[in-house]
Amino acid sequence: MQIMILSGNPKRDGLCQAVIQSVRSGAEEGGASVTEIRLQDLPLIRCQVCDDGWGTCLSERRCQFGSDGLDQLIGQLAQADVLVLATPVYWGEMSETLKSCLDRLRRCQRGQEGLLAGKQALIVATPGGTGNGQLTCFEQLDRFCRHTGLQIFDYIGANRWTADYHLDLARSAGRALAQGRKNGDTVPL
Ligand SMILES: Cc1cc2nc3c(=O)[nH]c(=O)nc-3n(C[C@H](O)[C@H](O)[C@H](O)COP(=O)(O)O)c2cc1C
Repeated sequence: MQIMILSGNPKRDGLCQAVIQSVRSGAEEGGASVTEIRLQDLPLIRCQVCDDGWGTCLSERRCQFGSDGLDQLIGQLAQADVLVLATPVYWGEMSETLKSCLDRLRRCQRGQEGLLAGKQALIVATPGGTGNGQLTCFEQLDRFCRHTGLQIFDYIGANRWTADYHLDLARSAGRALAQGRKNGDTVPL
């Protein structure tokens, strides 16, 4: 089982990273091979919104600027069985780092013919300030999954006063995914 964490977190420590680390630990305990891609470290440009709104993303399902690292990233994502989309909550939304990547990814990999369709997705969003904006961030990520055919397995949010038990939950979710559990399965109670 290949689990890929696509992280829009600019930080290497703190709340968001602690949740990511818990998912990772649980997944590795469950036997998965886990890769974490820190988008902050990649030189990806934003969508250039070519021509009158569409470019080669429409005609060829690829970005004409994909040599900036997007093509390589898509190749890596294609190898994954499970994606973890992880972000701190900024302004009630996902981080700009993750958003600008997902904007381009969605255009190229939209619909059931895309490379992401049918893969399991775990959504992680941490509002570390007021705690506000978790639902709107989830909603944004939910829409990306629906546009690309990703199957949402679960949503994990944690803030400063709920982090302890959400870290446990994140670890359990990672383990369950590593063991092959899918959206739609029924667990014994
Ligand atoms: C530009 C910016 C906007 C933010 N907006 C929110 C917000 O809308 N709601 C919230 O609870 N926290 C907000 N935060 C705090 C982050 O959510 C918080 O830093 C992160 O999610 C978790 O903490 P971490 O930085 O230790 O990982 C914001 C932080 C930044 C830098």
